[in-house]
This record gives sequence, C-alpha cells and structure tokens, in this order.
Amino acid sequence: MLQVDLAVIGGSGVYRVDMLKNVEDVDIETQYGQVNFLIGDCKDRKVAFLARHGKDHSVAPHMINYRANIQAIKNLNAKKIIATAAVGSLNKDMAPMDFVLLDQFLDFTKTRKSTFHEDGSQGVVHVDVTEPYCSEMRSFLYNKAKSLGIRVHNGGCYVCTEGPRFETPAEIKMFKQFGGDLVGMTSVPEVVLAREAGLPYVTVAMVTNYAAGISPTILSHREVLECMKMLSGNISSLIMEAIGEIQL
Ligand code: HPA
Repeated sequence: MLQVDLAVIGGSGVYRVDMLKNVEDVDIETQYGQVNFLIGDCKDRKVAFLARHGKDHSVAPHMINYRANIQAIKNLNAKKIIATAAVGSLNKDMAPMDFVLLDQFLDFTKTRKSTFHEDGSQGVVHVDVTEPYCSEMRSFLYNKAKSLGIRVHNGGCYVCTEGPRFETPAEIKMFKQFGGDLVGMTSVPEVVLAREAGLPYVTVAMVTNYAAGISPTILSHREVLECMKMLSGNISSLIMEAIGEIQL
C-alpha cells in the first residue's frame, strides 16, 4: 500500500514541485471521489503533491472536491500538510510578493461540503478550531522563509469567500472591519477538514495583489498568475527546505 510522509497542496500558480525525484502519477480512490497526485522523493522523504485546481487550473474554488482531497491524503497516511494559496491583501503592511503564514480565518463560503461528519453516524461532531493552522509548522516556515530572505509575516487572518468572482470594494471594507488581513477562495473548508482528519495543516499564503477597492487597478486572474510566476522560485525553495526538515 502506497504511503507518504507528507502532502503538499499547491494553489494557484503552484502546479508541481520540481524537486521531486522518481515521480509517479497516482490516482487515489475515496468515498468522495478520485484524487490525482504526483508522488515522489525529496530529501529522503516521500511526498504527495496535489494541484488544488487541477494540473491545468480548470477546477474553480467552489467546485474543488475538498473532502476527497483531504480523505485521499489521509488514506496515503501523510503526517502533515503544507498548503499554498494566492491571496489578495486588505492590510497595507502585507504587500504584494509578501508571504504570510496564516493563523486565523473568517468563513464567508456558502455552498461547500465542509465536514466529514454529515450523516450523524459518529454523533454530532464539533471540531475545535481555536488554532486552525499548526503553530509549530507556522513558526518553522516563518524562520525558514526569513533565512531565505523572503519578506514574511507570522500570522494573518484569511477571509474565505465563495468566489469564483472577486470581491466588491464594499465587501473588502466590511472584511477589513471584521479583522481580515487577506482574502482568498480556498482555505475553507480545506483547513477544517484537515483538522477533522487529525492532520496538522499549514498555509503559506502569497500576496499577489491588494484587494478590490484598495488596489488602484481592476483585478484580474492574470495579475494573480503573473505575480505567482515571480514568486515561484521563493515558494519552491521554501517548500523544499520544509520537506527535508519539518518534524514529522
Ligand atoms: N480575492 C480573492 N482571491 C484572491 C485574490 C483576491 O483579491 N487574489 C488572489 N486570490
């Protein structure tokens, strides 16, 4: 049976991890559907890489099968998950090109299957999310990013919207008043399902733009992807170091 040490979930602009050796393309079946991984070796560790939006970026945030993804990672016996996410910023201190290790979220999603405990077979389950993102992995990645010369923030509140549209300036103004720092469309329910599955989970968010109404220009997905291209060297280096050294 296929087993890995850790899983990497790549968001927008992160569709593979170049440092993996002996890469196999593997489909894992779950009761929620099939999930495709690239599984390979890096620094003596077996790593399962999953492109959240599909290899060709064809799966929109509200259509992602989050339950299948996390269940498949669990089935592979991964011990921890490192996720990446492109985000817009509501916080002037978190500028485009900065990295942020998320520590909190605000959930504004609407239509997603966001729990493994739907049918009541295990009673009603209320999972604790006081600390949704693993603080140990966060600190590790923060220090690692700093040592690589990356501008990085340890902590940031992610507002998860339903998408796929970007936000209105009025929404951004409200999110800011609510305490949000960053906005994106995918961290919820991924982080919650990882918690339900008992998998320590961390997100390296990468700021690609100031959010609607803060940015002087109209937002486009192209702008997000162009910024992600510029950040690809930094995120690859950070993930490679993390794979080798993160405690399992
Ligand atoms: N809004 C939502 N999601 C995003 C953004 C944004 O401004 N930038 C990157 N992902």
